[in-house]
Amino acid sequence: MSDFEVILYEKKDDKGYITLNRPKFLNAYNIKMRDELFEALSAAKDDPEVAVIILKAAGEKAFCAGADLSEFLTAPPPVAARQVRFERDVWGLFLSIQKPIICALHGYVLGSGIEMAMCCDIRVASEDAKFGVPEMGLGIIPAAGGSQTIPRIVGRGYAMEMLLSGRWITSAEAKKIKMVNRVVARAELLPTVEKLADTIRGYNLDALEYAKRAIVDGLDLPLPQGLELEARLGNLLLF
Ligand code: COA
Repeated sequence: MSDFEVILYEKKDDKGYITLNRPKFLNAYNIKMRDELFEALSAAKDDPEVAVIILKAAGEKAFCAGADLSEFLTAPPPVAARQVRFERDVWGLFLSIQKPIICALHGYVLGSGIEMAMCCDIRVASEDAKFGVPEMGLGIIPAAGGSQTIPRIVGRGYAMEMLLSGRWITSAEAKKIKMVNRVVARAELLPTVEKLADTIRGYNLDALEYAKRAIVDGLDLPLPQGLELEARLGNLLLF
């Protein structure tokens, strides 16, 4: 158990659970959450007792309603923000983790909420989830990788529509466009994610890491180089 303020970090049976924990504010992503997520993700990344990471959120209404709008106008000046980003690049950290990350999405999944989900490997949503990228309405663009990660997952057309029009979608539509892998009843959300995690954690940890690397790195490579990467990683497991 952790002594964080706006997230929880727990470990159980090789699983590292990170829970966004500001339910009163719909788990809006604030600076404190960024700092605590950075610490929890770093801990889970380096902990040999954690095979799989589960990202979920507390409260009934939301996974995360996006960036904390009360901090929006009090953000540090760009130079300071860039320095902080360099030192605490949560999104870079998320994407650098070689272990499988599964997220459980419910209620509002907006802005940074979607972007966090896109940094995960497997996304399970409950039937009540609603997804949206409201940045355009605020006169900004996504700042947590969304303009890059969303099109890589749902393709150019749906990414364009969601980012440019700000239209929200239901979990059924999110499943249709492959933004989430599965949609389940709210009561089944955590059990489904845990069941997946329990299957995964039983496998060889090196094989899991190389499989993830082959898929993630391979997607940015032409097929012949992707096949070379797969062969190289496969050999590492044999010798
Ligand atoms: N930042 C800071 N606080 C937020 C927040 C955010 N992004 N989203 C919700 N909250 C707070 C509300 O201010 C409210 O706090 P209060 O009870 O002290 O007034 C509390 O969370 C509950 O939200 P509320 O708006 O009352 O819930 P709702 O069910 O009526 O509406 C939303 C839910 C998601 C439609 C609405 O909260 C909303 O539009 N939020 C902003 C979404 C957004 O634009 N995010 C930024 C993306 S870049």
